[in-house]
Amino acid sequence: MANSYNIAVVGATGAVGAVMLKLLKEHEFPVASVRALASGGSAGRTVTFADTDIEVEELTANSFDGVQIALFSAGGARSKEFAPAAVAAGAVVIDNSSAFRMETNVPLVVPEVNPEDVKWHEGIIANPNCSTIQMMVALKPIYDAVGIERIVVTTFQSVSGTGNKAIGELFNQSEAVLQSGDVEINVYPHRIAFNVIPHIENFHDNGYTNEEVKMINETRKILGDPGIGVTATCVRVPVYNAHSEAVNIQTTRPVSVDEVRRLMLSAPGVTLIDDPSANEYPMPVIAEGRDDVFVGRIRADESAENALNLWVVSDNLRKGAATNAIQIAELLVDWGLLD
Ligand SMILES: NC(=O)c1ccc[n+]([C@@H]2O[C@H](COP(=O)([O-])OP(=O)(O)OC[C@H]3O[C@@H](n4cnc5c(N)ncnc54)[C@H](OP(=O)(O)O)[C@@H]3O)[C@@H](O)[C@H]2O)c1
Repeated sequence: MANSYNIAVVGATGAVGAVMLKLLKEHEFPVASVRALASGGSAGRTVTFADTDIEVEELTANSFDGVQIALFSAGGARSKEFAPAAVAAGAVVIDNSSAFRMETNVPLVVPEVNPEDVKWHEGIIANPNCSTIQMMVALKPIYDAVGIERIVVTTFQSVSGTGNKAIGELFNQSEAVLQSGDVEINVYPHRIAFNVIPHIENFHDNGYTNEEVKMINETRKILGDPGIGVTATCVRVPVYNAHSEAVNIQTTRPVSVDEVRRLMLSAPGVTLIDDPSANEYPMPVIAEGRDDVFVGRIRADESAENALNLWVVSDNLRKGAATNAIQIAELLVDWGLLD
């Protein structure tokens, strides 16, 4: 990697943006300059990149002069409004929002799963939904080895998946409950402290939530398999960071639990933690702050033929968002797609 690049981080003051800045340094990405962009309300504040304070600028259509990579994580409305300006200025946009994910001319990329798709981008590359990314990393080796007919997934999603306000809400509500005070509800439709909410984003007419629909549609696009069966139940839980998933799969050909364990041991981006006799299995407290997807509790589903259960945990701010975006940027650099 001979060159270095001018990067814009859009949403630099947010939960994902902060991790994005941290990871650019941690991954030793070849950075020439970083522009930190957020709303007008944050202009003049500072964020930290590589032990240096950077002044936050207001995001405008003119923010992208000289920028080669624009990492967007400021919500879908900002992506829709400003990503075209970034592309027009010559940048490649890697977008964390759902604004462009299902557009036919936008690759939806998990580097361990479908890296080649970055090659046909037309300026925008979409990062999938956080819950979908970690499920794809865990399932792709099984999909390649024996085929997968159907996936039934239940998620246990942390509050950091909703951003900084939700992190604050879990903290404040937990304190209020423990002190028997009044609980203020601002972010979710119900209290999240000491509760679980089977509702993430708006409901569709068929009774599924938008998060569930994203997992179904994005899985099919990433695998290039419109016929794969996917059904999801997405649940918000009072965990600060890292999403967990109970995943049941039906494979096309038989596969043993031992063979799946072997596949996980050699899978890129996967760490296997699967020793029930020693109480060892993935948990949010293990995944937090790490880039990998953690897999465990692998066992046969004895109620159906060729069926298996897995437990999949990952840091949603990292692999579910910032890590995946930076890996895409690394692919662009490694494959000379920025020059
Ligand atoms: N959290 C996750 O695990 C996760 C995972 C995958 C994808 N994403 C996606 O990433 C995006 C950000 O999520 P987050 O969790 O980081 O949320 P967040 O903590 O609420 O941060 C939102 C960011 O967007 C900026 N923003 C809001 N309104 C803006 C405006 N009008 N102009 C410019 N910037 C504006 C905010 O700037 P101010 O501070 O100035 O308001 C802040 O930097 C969302 O699209 C989300 O769907 C999140």
